[in-house]
Amino acid sequence: MQAAWNRPHILELASWQPWELDLVLQTASSFREVLAGRTKKVPALQGQVVTNLFFEPSTRTRSSFELAAKRLSADVMNFTPGSSSLTKGETILDTAKTYLAMGADILVIRHQQAGVPQFIADQMDALEAGVRVLNAGDGQHEHPSQGLLDLFTITSLYDPENPRLATLRGKKIAIVGDILHSRVARSNLWALLAAGVDLHLAAPPTLLPQAFGGLKPTDSPGCLTLHWTLEPALENADLVMTLRLQKERMTAHLLTSLREYHQAFGLTSQRLQGCREGVKILHPGPVNRGVEISSELMDDPRFSLIQDQVTSGVAVRMALLYLIGTYGEEAP
Ligand code: NCD
Repeated sequence: MQAAWNRPHILELASWQPWELDLVLQTASSFREVLAGRTKKVPALQGQVVTNLFFEPSTRTRSSFELAAKRLSADVMNFTPGSSSLTKGETILDTAKTYLAMGADILVIRHQQAGVPQFIADQMDALEAGVRVLNAGDGQHEHPSQGLLDLFTITSLYDPENPRLATLRGKKIAIVGDILHSRVARSNLWALLAAGVDLHLAAPPTLLPQAFGGLKPTDSPGCLTLHWTLEPALENADLVMTLRLQKERMTAHLLTSLREYHQAFGLTSQRLQGCREGVKILHPGPVNRGVEISSELMDDPRFSLIQDQVTSGVAVRMALLYLIGTYGEEAP
């Protein structure tokens, strides 16, 4: 028998068991059916309040969480730091407590510093507030909902009716680009290794420190290989994920020029020729067109899963809000 969901908060994927990943995939799959139906909505979180606390800019993640919460019939509040009391010196914890006093049930938190969602979750637990926290991206640490929507997108490719980890075992997946600064790469790494993927990371040495090679848990079924050139990572790859060059996080001069970076690591349809037939590409967005990927490849429906990722995001975030929003309730 499968164990029951046991996480009040979703903060990272590093500690997840394969069955938890599969449970999210199954739950997201049933919400995808809801979204494809006529009413597109379920009453699962009716009366609950979901608050988006985004301390960093975001288009797709914030909107996706908002729509997911609305599709579950929750009420949604959005916090925007530029026009908030943070500018008057209020702390993040004070902000969270203010929303708690208004009845927030779930806090979806994005922050530029790693560990903030965990800190707020610990404080909420200490207050016995019953509030759930979902990490929507913290610094360079993790972005679990993105890792899970990527997982849902690619497992749906191999079995649209029944997306599950087992379909990824032994597949070669390359993650290319600014891995050093990427919380998306880290969350994907945990999920893909747990799925038994043959995972290859490729970037210039300044954006892919050797230490990443030591991240593979000893008991994980996947394989992890690092490359400092692109070609060996792409050779016979089934899927390629490229990442945005995070210029806002580059504190040092880590690259010669964007043009040289594109020449060495930018994805183009020509470069994909070494990959397996039917290769697909992913990108979490936002994209620097012509830097990490050519504009033409990004828009090519034969290869690009970028729009599917955005679509998957709503069903996956519904699943996550549902699982933590109903956590602790008696099963009917
Ligand atoms: C990513 C993020 O914010 O970490 N974007 C996203 O959530 N879709 C990746 C990025 O900013 O490059």
